[in-house]
Amino acid sequence: MCGIVAYIGPRQAYPILIKGLHRLEYRGYDSAGIAILNSTLKLYKSKGKVAELEKAVVGKDLSGTIGIAHTRWATHGEPNDINAHPHFSYSKDLAIIHNGIIENYSPLRNELRKRGYEFISETDTEVLIHLIEDIQLNEKVSLAEAVQVALNQVVGAYAIVIIDKNDPDTLIAARKGSPLVIGIGEHEFFVASDATPIVEYTRDVVYLDDEEVAVLKRNHELKIKTITNIEKTPYIQTLEINLSELEKEGFEHFMLKEIYEQPRSIRDSMRGRLKVKEGIVLLGGIAEYQQKLVNAKRIIIVACGTSWHAGLVGEYLFEELARIPVEVEYASEFRYRNPIIYEDDIVIAISQSGETADTLAAVELAKSKGATIIGICNVVGSSIARATHAGTYTHAGPEIGVASTKAFTAQVTLLTLMALMLAEQKGSISRSKLNMLLHELEAIPEKVEKTLLVNDKIKELAAIFKDTRNALYLGRGYNYPVAMEGALKLKEISYIHAEGYPAAEMKHGPIALIDAAMPVIVIATNKGTYDKVVSNIQEVKARHAKIIAIVTEGDEVVKALADHIIEIPETEEMLVPLLATIPLQLLSYHIAVMRGCNVDQPRNLAKSVTVE
Ligand code: AGP
Repeated sequence: MCGIVAYIGPRQAYPILIKGLHRLEYRGYDSAGIAILNSTLKLYKSKGKVAELEKAVVGKDLSGTIGIAHTRWATHGEPNDINAHPHFSYSKDLAIIHNGIIENYSPLRNELRKRGYEFISETDTEVLIHLIEDIQLNEKVSLAEAVQVALNQVVGAYAIVIIDKNDPDTLIAARKGSPLVIGIGEHEFFVASDATPIVEYTRDVVYLDDEEVAVLKRNHELKIKTITNIEKTPYIQTLEINLSELEKEGFEHFMLKEIYEQPRSIRDSMRGRLKVKEGIVLLGGIAEYQQKLVNAKRIIIVACGTSWHAGLVGEYLFEELARIPVEVEYASEFRYRNPIIYEDDIVIAISQSGETADTLAAVELAKSKGATIIGICNVVGSSIARATHAGTYTHAGPEIGVASTKAFTAQVTLLTLMALMLAEQKGSISRSKLNMLLHELEAIPEKVEKTLLVNDKIKELAAIFKDTRNALYLGRGYNYPVAMEGALKLKEISYIHAEGYPAAEMKHGPIALIDAAMPVIVIATNKGTYDKVVSNIQEVKARHAKIIAIVTEGDEVVKALADHIIEIPETEEMLVPLLATIPLQLLSYHIAVMRGCNVDQPRNLAKSVTVE
């Protein structure tokens, strides 16, 4: 969702800010803006992409060594030039950029109106900057103090950066519930919603905590205080992202690059954790809570979207291997339905971004009830990673394409490792089966490489099916979440209506949709309920649908029934999702490209959904 970039230091701010905005484009947005200070405070905004903003500022005075910039994903008020950020204060001395939602903006605005303030935009952000200026003027306090006072009156989430025309040497930043990273360079500071705009300038960063206000003053050390005025010592961490991970490196889209990265990303997820020779799994991040996990009577998995699909695979894994009952919950439903949570429950929160508002709220709720919370996040230092008691990072590397691909397979890898670790500790698996599964898991990256060779065949299929209006994805057992994930990928980037269903459930409704125009994608690999899936394929065939089947290499039975088959290498049933997902990712990718869709930034979607 919205993206923040700010800079103060010896360099010209504009190139850093605009490049930073481009780096943040993957988050999803619909307008962009920039404010630069150099004796006057210049503000430029534009609806649409960052490229539009760049066109709009051609020939304008962009000089200045301090500035703020923003990409906005509309919440309050439609995406247009007026609602775009930055927003001026009433006097136009201050300008603010803001991510998040000020929930009590309406009463605050009414109060300010009574005092004579007028508003240009429909945004909650403009209310906040007027409030801050009002406090600054009436209480005769510094800008940082006014920000502290104002934020004590605010209900909601925010990451903000403020620039002051009368103080060209200072930026003020603050956060609650929306991420903010401060990069510390040589006599310069960078601020951003995530580390991607910062990493090429410095690796030293501080992640602001909730209700902290940072003062970034030229040639001074970073100062952080809470909104209740408690001084904090900045905790400087080192970024581990490589710049090349943020570039397309010859691929047409980030999504395709990330699909092809999966042999590497799965390997990285297992590195140092999968100890085949020793016959064990080591997950250092959760070692302290290992016994609690082993003794758990129940595991609740909370997540959204693709991460929720990974959670479904996790349910099958934990129940089969570790014999622990699992409930998989949409975080948005869980948090509002007064769930029963026991103190000995283990809650696993899965999130690529680590910033998903509903998942974060579910974590806080479960924590308040005394449960132990384990995180599986990709973004290091993210809010969910920090809110959990312990966790393991997926180490998939930055995922820029809005459609999650390598993060999903990394999450499934982590859940597999966790389930195997618990099974070993609980003794719920035989030594020989454990060793066999560890070996098989180790071989998965190579098998993913082999699976990727189906790309050309998938391209041909994409050309055949690109104009379909609907698609049905079917799978059973471990392949049921794969079907759901395949359908989600297709709808989010190609805008084709798709449903993912447990194959046997088809008879209870969706079968009515099937006719000769309906492509049905069936995951029919050779283990588990294979025979049952073959019967389901017969049912589909009898209704003349076009069948695309994902099968195990050498399969002859399904080959005789399906219109098209995609072969994947043989593996253990519980590891199939790591392979079967790949052709489905490629299928949606090629269909979306052929339909001329914006693959990396699909309409209306945001990479990290920081509003509920
Ligand atoms: C995935 O392709 C989606 N864009 C989306 O469903 C995503 O998985 C969901 O918003 C959860 O995000 P998270 O993993 O960052 O929490």
